[in-house]
Amino acid sequence: MATKEQKRDFITFNDWTKEEMEQLIGKAIALKKSGYAAGNGKKPFEGKILAMVFFNSSLRTRTSLQAGMHKLGGTALDLAIGQGVWDLEHRENAVMDGKAAEHIKDAAKVLSRYCDAIGVRKFPEMKDWQEDRKDGVVRGFAKYADVPVINLESGMEHPCQALADLMTMKEALGSLKGKKVLLTWTYHPKALPMAVPNSVALAAGKMGMDLTIACPKGFELDDAIMKTVQKSCSLNKAKLEVVHGQEKAYKGADVVYAKSWGSLLHYGDPEAEAKAKQGLKHWIVDMAKMKKSNNARFMHCLPMRRNVEATDEVVDSGNSVIYQQAENRMHAQNSLLMELMGK
Ligand code: CP
Repeated sequence: MATKEQKRDFITFNDWTKEEMEQLIGKAIALKKSGYAAGNGKKPFEGKILAMVFFNSSLRTRTSLQAGMHKLGGTALDLAIGQGVWDLEHRENAVMDGKAAEHIKDAAKVLSRYCDAIGVRKFPEMKDWQEDRKDGVVRGFAKYADVPVINLESGMEHPCQALADLMTMKEALGSLKGKKVLLTWTYHPKALPMAVPNSVALAAGKMGMDLTIACPKGFELDDAIMKTVQKSCSLNKAKLEVVHGQEKAYKGADVVYAKSWGSLLHYGDPEAEAKAKQGLKHWIVDMAKMKKSNNARFMHCLPMRRNVEATDEVVDSGNSVIYQQAENRMHAQNSLLMELMGK
């Protein structure tokens, strides 16, 4: 077992360099090409155990980790909080006289005695942005665990998704530098977290891609995230623009990444958010808009509301790489787990 000083976490894209990301992606592509053939008998995760702590629902993250660990000889434990696993408290020095029976400090220490890595998914409460943006649960696990902790989507980031997204773009486009990503906001009946758009923006900036973020006024991303993205783009001499219209944004795009997210102006106030979104149903990716792009690949992290976020015609078109993206979650995470847990 790695000592606490030796362990490395995967909480945010910011903590990993561009070169490290390129290495992870290269290894993920090689793993995918290998087909996980049993022929050579290599099972790098034999005897390794990953604990997956889910505070929220998941299809892809849960299954891709389970499948990936299994293919490489390891085991993944699915711990769904509140469903047979104790509710957890994360606040420091909390007086625990409420619902939670256990503190993450104790849970992280105990899981570290059984497991070689811990993945944690904790969506934001969507009440107080200043509180949610601290990612208290995921960062708390990283602080107290003695083994690597992987962010499986927090309030701020979904780095495993972004790693798979970059892998998918690399497969589709070759070199990423100078390629244009359009990250377009889409209508959605609910106010959704910002982890995925934040991660797409951070990832594109880090890899030197030109990035256009199209969203209605009032739906801009977090200032601190945008400052980091701006810094990466400047460093890489890449273009960054935020626009509030759709038509021109598609021009020259090599990737159209669709995603809905909530407004920080109305954070914690679903009624105000719903009112602000009235008249925004035309923020949908359709074929007429895609035709303005540079024959762009269509991407979405899933799950997706069809014919609300994007039309069936786009989602089912030859340019859609959504299933490749989902498959790549497994390869990208296996590459990451090899790095974190040792081969
Ligand atoms: N994209 C993604 O993380 O999917 P799940 O929420 O189903 O895990």
